[in-house]
Formats: sequence, structure tokens, C-alpha cells
Amino acid sequence: KRIAIFASGNGSNAENIIRYFQEKGSSGEVALVVCNKSGAKVLERAGRLGVESVVMSRDEINDRQSMLGLLESHRIDVIVLAGFLLMVPSFLIERYRDRIVNIHPSLLPKFGGKGMYGRHVHEAVVNSGEVETGITIHYVSEMCDEGRMIFQARTSVEQSDTAEDVEKKVHELEREHFARVIDETFFGG
Ligand code: GRF
Repeated sequence: KRIAIFASGNGSNAENIIRYFQEKGSSGEVALVVCNKSGAKVLERAGRLGVESVVMSRDEINDRQSMLGLLESHRIDVIVLAGFLLMVPSFLIERYRDRIVNIHPSLLPKFGGKGMYGRHVHEAVVNSGEVETGITIHYVSEMCDEGRMIFQARTSVEQSDTAEDVEKKVHELEREHFARVIDETFFGG
């Protein structure tokens, strides 16, 4: 089974997932990285690991023929959103129903929804005095951050933690769990 990772920026999750499936001997493999930003670090990471990547504009991503054509020509079965900052078009959600997952860097439903991405999430967590936060891996549905939940993991937030500290802890959780949860969900782990 072939996985496409959609990412917009740094791509540490993408790299972890690519490495996991290269090393694990799972029936899943990462066959494609789709990125909406030219020059994003994720492209360099994919290249280094020998995974094909393509840069697509927002318009191309939202264009049914170019998007589905690309995924079909790469025989993609599963889509993983890992730091992907655009909305997924609904034709894609329909075509890949229950085959698209996202990771969100908080304990949804807390700190989800519009504007809640990346560092903004961790700032909101710190500012509201939360004592814990975490990650949520969920199916992607038409509603932003509201698809069926697959997995959560938590970590504590200390009073002295800055948003950056929290971000580091959350990245640790992502590294620990994301690839494995994808493997278990789609490939029998
Ligand atoms: C991660 O924290 C992910 O949960 C969120 O965006 C961040 C992406 O980091 N959606 P990276 O690009 O994988 O390094």
C-alpha cells in the first residue's frame, strides 16, 4: 500500500514517517510527498531519503483533475497530513474516505479549529494555564479538526514552560507515536 504525505513546511513528521516505513518492513511505503510551498524543508528531507516530491499551488491542489490524477498515477492508497496548512478539498475527502489522517498538536477538541496550527496552539495552551497537552491523530472529515479520533497521547505542561518548551514536548510525542499509529491503522502494524 502506498502513502502520500502532505506537508507545508519543516517536515520532521514526514521524515520520521518515511524512515519508519523504510526501516520497518511494513506493507506500507511512502511513495510521494505533496507540498504547497516551494523551498520548504520537507522537500529537501524527502529528496535525501529518496522519496519523490511535488510542489503544488493551492489552485492545483483544489483542482480535481490535477490532484486526483497525480494520486492515481502514483497509485496512492492512504494520505497522511503532517503539518499541512491548507484545507483538504472535499472531492479528496470523498475519494479517500477514511483513508486520510491528520495529526493535530493538542488534545482535541481543545485548541482546534481555525487559526490553531503550529506554534499558535502551544501559545494558547500556555496562556490558558493548561496542566497538560498532547497530540491527536484523527481521520479527516469535512469539518476542520473534527474527524473521528484514532489516538491521543498526553504530556504535562509545567508552569515555567514556554510555548517553545511545549512545542518540543509535543514533537517528542509525535516522533514516538505518529508512524506507528499509521502502521497499525492501515497496515496491521
Ligand atoms: C506538528 O506539530 C504537527 O502536529 C502540526 O504541525 C507541526 C508540523 O511539524 N500539525 P513538522 O513540519 O512535521 O516538523
